[in-house]
Amino acid sequence: MKILSAEFETTAVKPNQYPKEYFPEIAFVGRSNVGKSSLINSLLNRKKLVKTSATPGKTQTINFFRINDSLFFADLPGYGFAKVPEAVKKTWGKMIEEYLLKRETLRAIVFIVDIRRKPGELDFNLKHWLDANGIDYILAITKADKISQTKRTKLIRPIEQQLGNEERAIPYSSKTSLGRKELWARIIEKTEGKKEIPQPPEEAIEGLS
Ligand code: GTP
Ligand code: MG
Repeated sequence: MKILSAEFETTAVKPNQYPKEYFPEIAFVGRSNVGKSSLINSLLNRKKLVKTSATPGKTQTINFFRINDSLFFADLPGYGFAKVPEAVKKTWGKMIEEYLLKRETLRAIVFIVDIRRKPGELDFNLKHWLDANGIDYILAITKADKISQTKRTKLIRPIEQQLGNEERAIPYSSKTSLGRKELWARIIEKTEGKKEIPQPPEEAIEGLS
């Protein structure tokens, strides 16, 4: 994918704040600190477009990015960050769930896990919830650079078996760009899939009365 432009669009905590333009959209979900925001930067070949941090809980709202004036990326807050107060956790959960269920233009979800961590209860919950709601996803196993190549397969297999779907998981590294080409190919495949992008209501089309 040739990135001609990539810019921050807007930030949202509820549906009426989502971008109004009808572009296909890709969302990035996973535990806090797995590397969602870093993976977006890596896909876009940008170092600092999306803010990242070594401390979990960096992304706290849904941040939208406009790519090539034809695609949106949505960076979601992570789940499972222990230090977040219970009330905030609930708000984040609701915000993510509402987004995933209501966003009509959503074409693909990249479900991100850390290669070094065994999937936990919250990862299983997410997988079951996605399956139960018939929401398709691409499983990306990131931070692969932290593990030697020989040990990678050993770690990837069980994660893939536990959290994967009928498609293969994609080993990824935001540091080395491992998996970048493959993930873009998968994203494009889903974006150009059969599902039609809903058209804006007529009153929203400029010039129509
Ligand atoms: P929240 O917004 O808190 O949910 O976190 P996040 O999932 O967006 O993670 P973020 O991209 O902020 O990265 C968390 C930490 O992991 C940062 O210190 C990153 O530099 C590091 N990191 C992310 N991806 C990789 C990777 O592929 N390889 C290595 N070595 N480090 C990574
Ligand atoms: Mg983040």
